Amino acid sequence: MTGRRASGPTAGAEAGTEASPIILELTGVTRVHGEGERRVVALREADLEVRLGELVAVMGPSGSGKSTLLNLAGGLDTPSAGEVRLGRDLLSHLDAAGRAAIRRRRVGYVFQDLNLIPALTAAENVALPRELDGVGVREAREQARSALAEVGVVELADRFPEEMSGGQQQRVAIARALVGPRRLVLADEPTGALDSHTGEAVMRVLRQRIDAGAAGLLVTHDPRFAAWADRTVYLRDGVVVDADRDDRASDLLVGAGRGSGRDRRRGIGPGLDD
Ligand SMILES: Nc1ncnc2c1ncn2[C@@H]1O[C@H](COP(=O)(O)OP(=O)(O)OP(=O)(O)O)[C@@H](O)[C@H]1O
Ligand SMILES: [Mg+2]
Repeated sequence: MTGRRASGPTAGAEAGTEASPIILELTGVTRVHGEGERRVVALREADLEVRLGELVAVMGPSGSGKSTLLNLAGGLDTPSAGEVRLGRDLLSHLDAAGRAAIRRRRVGYVFQDLNLIPALTAAENVALPRELDGVGVREAREQARSALAEVGVVELADRFPEEMSGGQQQRVAIARALVGPRRLVLADEPTGALDSHTGEAVMRVLRQRIDAGAAGLLVTHDPRFAAWADRTVYLRDGVVVDADRDDRASDLLVGAGRGSGRDRRRGIGPGLDD
């Protein structure tokens, strides 16, 4: 065992085990777009549980429903059927304003395209969600600087996005997802545009934050980045298959040209201290 687990706020109850609280729970979640001939089932009766301390990788071909899953998990979209629970809150019981408030406070989102605001500096971009949530400007800026320091780019605080490389912008986007007390990080291919070295650095940051008391869903096409996760769920045509809990996974894995989910489970991911 690599001893990847840090002893954070969850010390005493190993993070990601049955003893850790469930941060995100999807039960029978279906999302249908369009009608008639245009009808697309983007997600089909998905069940998923993510506990504090867990990083779950989401893999699957283009169009299989990965972004749909993340949007539903973060309350950016609502299911056609089924329930999404964030902590103790059932999102379907909240109106749009209630969902937005929960999202701002508890969910950090790294979008497929980074969505940094070009007219704001790195620090302003990262501080924005905190300010929107009513935190004072000065405190929001302090939290932003500490999130930027956490991802190793505090020296870029006063630069605008166009003055940064793709990798630097990526880290700023991740800082924005981590700023403040967010407990659930939803990352849609955060390493997509990065070389493998920068990608590893980004994964290290994500892993550390999650070990220190958060949870995450990470969409990635790259098995090297998925190896940082505690487990991987596979999507195919909107159906979720949990590689570690469902034997159907082995068929999908063969299809994807990979080994058995059980073989690669835990232990082969890069340690934090290597
Ligand atoms: N707003 C929408 N209206 C109609 N169909 C949609 C909409 N959003 C997604 N879809 C469809 O739902 C399916 C799942 O899309 P989704 O974006 O979740 O895929 P993905 O796995 O994230 O793909 P990629 O790897 O290309 O990002 C696709 O068939 C897509 O065309
Ligand atoms: Mg997508």
